[in-house]
Amino acid sequence: MEVCRTIESVRDMVGKARGEGKRIGLAPTMGALHIGHVSLLRRAAEECDFVVVSIFVNPTQFGPGEDFDNYPRPFDRDLDICRKSGVDIVFAPTAGIMYPDENLTWVEVEKLTEPLCGMSRTGHFRGVTTVCAKLFNIVLPDAAYFGLKDAQQAAVIKKMVADLNMALEIVVCPTVREANGLAVSSRNKYLSETQREEASKIYASLLKCEELIAGGETNSSKIVRQMREILDEIAGGEVEYVEIVDAGTLAKVETVKGSVLAAVALKLGRARLIDNIVCRIIQPEAQ
Ligand code: PAJ
Repeated sequence: MEVCRTIESVRDMVGKARGEGKRIGLAPTMGALHIGHVSLLRRAAEECDFVVVSIFVNPTQFGPGEDFDNYPRPFDRDLDICRKSGVDIVFAPTAGIMYPDENLTWVEVEKLTEPLCGMSRTGHFRGVTTVCAKLFNIVLPDAAYFGLKDAQQAAVIKKMVADLNMALEIVVCPTVREANGLAVSSRNKYLSETQREEASKIYASLLKCEELIAGGETNSSKIVRQMREILDEIAGGEVEYVEIVDAGTLAKVETVKGSVLAAVALKLGRARLIDNIVCRIIQPEAQ
């Protein structure tokens, strides 16, 4: 496994692999790798012949007062994890390499970035799409791997790739959870043991949604109310949003039909936690 610090070196090595006819997979990350990230790396290693992981805490996707400075950066540990997960190249640029000058060109996906996390994190998705576009241009992967944990991010990236005719496939992998259901996240490090237990109620609220929909409930407000009752039990938790939206457009739905995404964001201590579940309604066949 090689660690590349410059754009030229990563291009050079990936170029050689491509020349040998290898399928190139890229997993963009901000490091502090955990089993959620590893699931992406393993999937990439299964489906591709050459796996690139980027580790870059991207300043342009953090707002003022967010955790950019405190974001965990356990680089040596990350390298060990990559080595054990079948990674060929770790691309770990500095901010000066990724943004050498004042950045004047931004990639912005409209509409999909407005609801959910877009409501409170102004400019966040613009930073994500811009850095992913740059990484895609640098690595030119055949496929890039993202997690359903960040469902809105995955939807936004897919739309960017489709709208800008980028020649790669976006693979979205299932959310990896701790034993108590809490979605694994680099930000779980900010939680105490008690808070981690409390935070498992986020998944409980999503399972409640799934159960209600499976039982035939289609009224979103009623479902959201019952989810909120569970979320309100989280000691010290502050719900930012709990919503049921169309899984494709991310627009709020009043009546559940087709595929919907139930999504939650909640502040707990120093952590902002997000999670979601996709529920599909099987329409009864017409008589
Ligand atoms: P980061 O939070 O490091 O996540 C990198 C990738 O890992 C994302 O696609 C995310 O959805 C996925 N991931 C995180 N936790 C997961 C879990 N529990 N199960 C499955 N997948 C999980 O998301 C980012 O970085 C950045 O926004 C990035 C795309 C790298 C752009 O800077």
